[in-house]
Amino acid sequence: MSIAIAIDGPAGAGKSTISKSAAKRLGFIYIDTGALYRTVGLAASRAGVEPVEGEAVDKLLESITVELAFNDKGEQIVLLNGEDVSGLIRTPEASMMASKISAVPAVRAFLLDLQRDMAKKDNVIMDGRDIGTVILPDAEVKIFLTASPEARAERRYKELVEKGMDVKYEDILEDVKTRDYNDSHRAIAPLKQADDAVLADTTEIDLEGSIDLIVKIIKENSNGAV
Ligand code: DC
Repeated sequence: MSIAIAIDGPAGAGKSTISKSAAKRLGFIYIDTGALYRTVGLAASRAGVEPVEGEAVDKLLESITVELAFNDKGEQIVLLNGEDVSGLIRTPEASMMASKISAVPAVRAFLLDLQRDMAKKDNVIMDGRDIGTVILPDAEVKIFLTASPEARAERRYKELVEKGMDVKYEDILEDVKTRDYNDSHRAIAPLKQADDAVLADTTEIDLEGSIDLIVKIIKENSNGAV
């Protein structure tokens, strides 16, 4: 039996960086589910399809394949119709498109089995918005990882500037707040803390401290399985 750790939380809480490092320490496979929604969003942008419920999105889903794979460094890559789009899905525009299209029920249904199958095969730390509530309700450990909107915007801003992108902090904060609203107010699988999830707030904790905290929570809550 494989072990699953679910880490949910809002955009920019450091889920992916923290989960990736925690997975490395524990020898688990890290799965970033946001990349899947970003990839469907990219497919919609390319096809000129509006990210709203309806026939156009249904047709789009019938015409695409989305797969997760790992490169030779062991990092997750995502394939759209066989093309590695891992870099293309990391722009602010792709973030907003992902947030919108992830509210479409057909998109969530399209990605459901893919995520569950990954968790069946290996010991995983899976991060997203609805992993503990919908995708893996029986996960051994569930963590809701959050930080204040300002702290999250600041981190995202630094990340994008380091990548050489020309962005403004105020715009990023606005994006963070809009995405929080979209992600937590959609009718299907909204972002919310599972009843049995442990809350981890990293507003005042640096990256190393946050990784230590997550590993500690996992060890303390897995009944000796980890
Ligand atoms: O984690 P991220 O920022 O890469 O996610 C991009 C968008 O995808 C986010 O706005 C919400 C959506 N998402 C989701 O609805 N469910 C998930 N499990 C992961 C992401």
